[in-house]
This record gives sequence, C-alpha cells and structure tokens, in this order.
Amino acid sequence: TMRKPMVAANWKMNGSDALAKEMLSALASTNLNELDVLICPPATLLHAFANSASCVLGAQNLSEHTAGAYTGELSAALLAAAGARFVLVGHSERRTLFAESDQALAGKMQQAIEHGLTPVYCIGENLQQRQQEKTGQVLAKQLAAVYASHPEFLAKSVIAYEPVWAIGTGEAATPEQAQQAHAAIRQQLAQYDSKAAAEVRVLYGGSVNSKNAAELLSQPDIDGGLVGGASLNAEEFLHICLSAK
Ligand code: G3H
Repeated sequence: TMRKPMVAANWKMNGSDALAKEMLSALASTNLNELDVLICPPATLLHAFANSASCVLGAQNLSEHTAGAYTGELSAALLAAAGARFVLVGHSERRTLFAESDQALAGKMQQAIEHGLTPVYCIGENLQQRQQEKTGQVLAKQLAAVYASHPEFLAKSVIAYEPVWAIGTGEAATPEQAQQAHAAIRQQLAQYDSKAAAEVRVLYGGSVNSKNAAELLSQPDIDGGLVGGASLNAEEFLHICLSAK
C-alpha cells in the first residue's frame, strides 16, 4: 500500500536509561527501512534517544496551552525541542484516569500541529459500548470531536484504534474485529477529507505481542501497531517491528 507501516512503542510510566540503550542497540542491529519505528518513552527519557537514526521519537501527552503558569505541564514547543516529532493525544488512560474531555483534546491537537508535532490521535470503545453495539457511533463521535471543525488536521495525523477492553488485558481484538473497526474509521474520516482518509495511517493498539502481530498487521486497513506492555522488552518489540514489514 502507499501507507508506510508504523510500529509505535508506548512505554507509559515505565522504562529507564538502560532499557533505552537496549532498545537502541536492538533497533540498530536490524534493517527496518521500510517502516517507521516510533518510540514514546516518558518525557524525561526522550534525551536517551536523541539523534538516533533507527527510530523517531514521540511524547505521550502534551499541554493544551502554549506556555505560562501551568506547573508540571509540558508544551508542544518543549517536547519538540527535546526531540519529539510525534505525540499521543487522547490515549484512553488520559481520557479516563485524567478526565481529558473532547474539548481539551481538540486543544491538544491544535497545539501539536501548530508546533510541527504529528499527533497520534487515539480512539476506542470500552467493553460496555462494544456489548451494546455502539462501537461505530463511539468512534464516529471521537473522530468528529477533532476533525469536524478541523478537517485539515487529518492529513497531518496518525490515528490509533485502541479498544479499551483490549488494553493491557492480554486479550487483543481478533484480526477481523480490528479490520472491521479500522475500515469503519477510514469510512467515517472520508467525510472530512477523502484523500487524507485514504492516506492516513491507522494503527491498532491493545495487547499486541510478537505472536499476534503478524496477523493483525497484515489486515488491509491496519497500517501498524501501538504497543504498550510488549514494547518494554526490546527483543519482543523488535519481533513486532519485523512482522510489520
Ligand atoms: O498505547 C498502548 C496501548 O494502550 C496498548 O497497551 O499493549 O499493554 O495492551 P498494551
């Protein structure tokens, strides 16, 4: 396909300088030219990956504000200066544990794009919503919260589909379930910008590991993975990267 695969590691609140070194030497030892490897470590570890040719860097969150009296927050400009080129926006843990609203997320998308960071906009239904067959409508609402007012953001985004019930549970979506959701996402996005909808990378996240990655990532509308737990082991993460080629 014309969409270059991407495999992203989301370390969440884990990792160390030692793990960064292991990851870098694993990546450097392998030819991963045909895919983008994105590492999203905690912001204090971005420096450990700076200037690496084998991956691109992302942050896990950013402030919706530009600068000022926001103790503890990190702006898009600060993250870019620390080496980030991407940033996760709206991860389900941010939405639920930190009560990030659709409005706050729209502000974060704006900040990211204004400062040249590519947002990885994360969406996904929870178990109750899936059981009530509301998946399509939940995804549509989360996409509309950003792209209805800013369709021009789509060409500058990556999308991550992460069913909440599959995150950190060891129970990934089946390839069929994931493909169906990804196709629905692309179809929803076509109303905002049909060319960008065909070109945008849609990553699958939720209990991706070295055993299930190949089948998930070979689905026609799945352009890569967003890997949590399995990205904390350099060897396993490398296997996942290799299965995306
Ligand atoms: O951002 C990553 C996702 O939350 C998936 O996490 O691979 O540990 O299920 P997981």
